[in-house]
Amino acid sequence: MRLPKLHKGRIAPTLERPGAGVQSSFPHKHLLAISDLSVKDIEQILALSETYVQTNRSNNKKNPILKGQTLINLFFENSTRTRTSFELAGKRMGVDVINMNVESSSTAKGETLLDTAMTLNAMHPDFITVRHAESGAVQLLSQKVKCAVINAGDGWHEHPTQALLDALTIQKRRGKIKGLTVAICGDILHSRVARSNIALLNKMGARVRVVAPPTLMPLYVETLGVEPFYEMERGLKNVDVVMMLRLQKERMTGNYISSTSEYFHFYGLDRTKLSVAKDDVFVMHPGPMNRGVEIDSELADDINRSVILDQVEMGVAVRQAVLELLAHKS
Ligand code: CP
Repeated sequence: MRLPKLHKGRIAPTLERPGAGVQSSFPHKHLLAISDLSVKDIEQILALSETYVQTNRSNNKKNPILKGQTLINLFFENSTRTRTSFELAGKRMGVDVINMNVESSSTAKGETLLDTAMTLNAMHPDFITVRHAESGAVQLLSQKVKCAVINAGDGWHEHPTQALLDALTIQKRRGKIKGLTVAICGDILHSRVARSNIALLNKMGARVRVVAPPTLMPLYVETLGVEPFYEMERGLKNVDVVMMLRLQKERMTGNYISSTSEYFHFYGLDRTKLSVAKDDVFVMHPGPMNRGVEIDSELADDINRSVILDQVEMGVAVRQAVLELLAHKS
């Protein structure tokens, strides 16, 4: 069988014609959690994402290899980056993208998540991306539909495409992940971004530290394969990468911090706290960020230190790669 070119310099594994019969070597029907992926899976996603980074920087961003496919974005929580980048990723690949407006959908009339899922399934989508406040909701939904389901963030559990785009950002900046020391700082307790990044960075051979006040540190956090610190000055010493997290107030049920100004004083990243890290340290944040709460505003905008907008760029490429690898697995 002749293998057609998908992109300059890249061949689809066993593609007969764009949008039909893709049988990639990616062994998963859904993308629900980093914990489901092997090192080889992660490397495959990152390598494919890299080709999309180049395409997205060119004048011809559109390559409709998934023409005729349908993606439904089903977001029960707010999003700017994730939802927009899945939409853009799909459109650049020729996918018809539907953004469900949950607030004006029949969930507002009491329809359950699973009934919503089965209703959408009857319309034969090829992909559904789901963001939901409950940990495990996306996995449950994936058991009720025929199409590929992508976890766009479920409760405190996982946000796998965020960790993948973070990994791509680190790899592009440093040329590797293995052997780096990464400090993830802030509201570790409520953060699905932290959990996905801890899982991915450990699999890829990085050393992971977590830095938080005791109230925002999960119990037994060491069992995740991280080294906990309760002071920024100690946690950031000699690290290669600092990943800041937002206070997830929407998931807090009590008083976890005294005040945002006190939090910034002890845990907000500024140049003084960063000065104990390696000379070439860089700063990440998944967004949305709260300037002056977890990160100093001027530092966040410093293009010599901050890769926050690089992360956004990588997000589109990673989501394109994920769509390509999950295509036609139903
Ligand atoms: N990082 C992230 O998930 O951002 P959004 O909430 O804007 O999608």
